[in-house]
Amino acid sequence: MPDQRTVLITGATGNIGRHIVAALAAAGHPVRAASRHRPTDPAAAAHHIPFDWHDPATHRPAVGGVHAVYLMPPPVSADPVGQVGAFLDLAQDAGVRRVVLLSSSAIRTGNPGPGQLPTAVTDRFPEWAVLRPSWFMQNFVAEHHHHGASIRRDGEIVTATGDGRVGFIDAADIAAVAVRALTDPVPHNAEHLLTGPQTHSYADVAAMISEAGGRPVRHRTVDVDTMRRRLVDSGIPDGFAALLAGMDAAIAAGAENRTTSTVADVTGRAPTSLRDFCTAHADHWRPA
Ligand SMILES: NC(=O)c1ccc[n+]([C@@H]2O[C@H](COP(=O)([O-])OP(=O)(O)OC[C@H]3O[C@@H](n4cnc5c(N)ncnc54)[C@H](OP(=O)(O)O)[C@@H]3O)[C@@H](O)[C@H]2O)c1
Repeated sequence: MPDQRTVLITGATGNIGRHIVAALAAAGHPVRAASRHRPTDPAAAAHHIPFDWHDPATHRPAVGGVHAVYLMPPPVSADPVGQVGAFLDLAQDAGVRRVVLLSSSAIRTGNPGPGQLPTAVTDRFPEWAVLRPSWFMQNFVAEHHHHGASIRRDGEIVTATGDGRVGFIDAADIAAVAVRALTDPVPHNAEHLLTGPQTHSYADVAAMISEAGGRPVRHRTVDVDTMRRRLVDSGIPDGFAALLAGMDAAIAAGAENRTTSTVADVTGRAPTSLRDFCTAHADHWRPA
């Protein structure tokens, strides 16, 4: 008999959240799919609950009667701890026991800003997991991501990463780990550093997309301040743009040049390779 305790999934229409909703609903778990817009997938739409980080009136109805929460923090906030902390207080009062937080491999727990969120979770809840994925393969596909946009518009990927390498990961693999962290009988109570199976430079990525999509895509490297300004021009608030550009500098210095076995350890199956991801998404990059 499936576990009948309710799971709230924030960011439910996003790269990760939509896979979590689909997997839990298919396994018979009661789910609440929280986002501002109704999911377009009818199966997910049936579980939708309106939720906006900037509208606290939507927070209490979302957490009432919930056992576990997948927490995607407010997007593009460089200092989310006040807003998320208030939500976590409500969740604690409502009896939530388990929180699975989406963080990032680039965010060190304990650092200022988003680095304060893991402690905000572990201080309040007896059962938890912190997911620290590397950079998403979906960044090269998503319409709203600056890489996806510049590939389509200019045939280029622009970063301040130089030749730095990254263990790019498929968001579906992050979701598979999240599902286990949300539902395993024994709470993980651990940070999971998540990567794909290999590291690649952005020049490697450009070459793979060119091959898969049948059109030339190049990598152009810029300095950190130029990167910050590009991100601001693409609509990202300055504080978060500075954070992201700084992460590029860290990649150039080798911070993301690593792989872990965590996806396979937690889910029992190997993570998707970037080459397989590019083959599967080739239609996104083909010339019109
Ligand atoms: N991209 C990367 O390489 C990378 C790497 C490591 C970590 N991360 C982290 O991953 C997160 C992004 O995850 P993702 O790719 O799954 O996101 P995503 O695909 O961009 O989706 C964002 C989700 O959040 C919802 N949302 C947006 N604004 C909201 C608001 N004001 N209130 C409530 N919900 C809101 C969206 O739905 P609605 O618009 O309908 O509300 C959507 O469901 C970020 O926190 C980032 O720090 C990203």
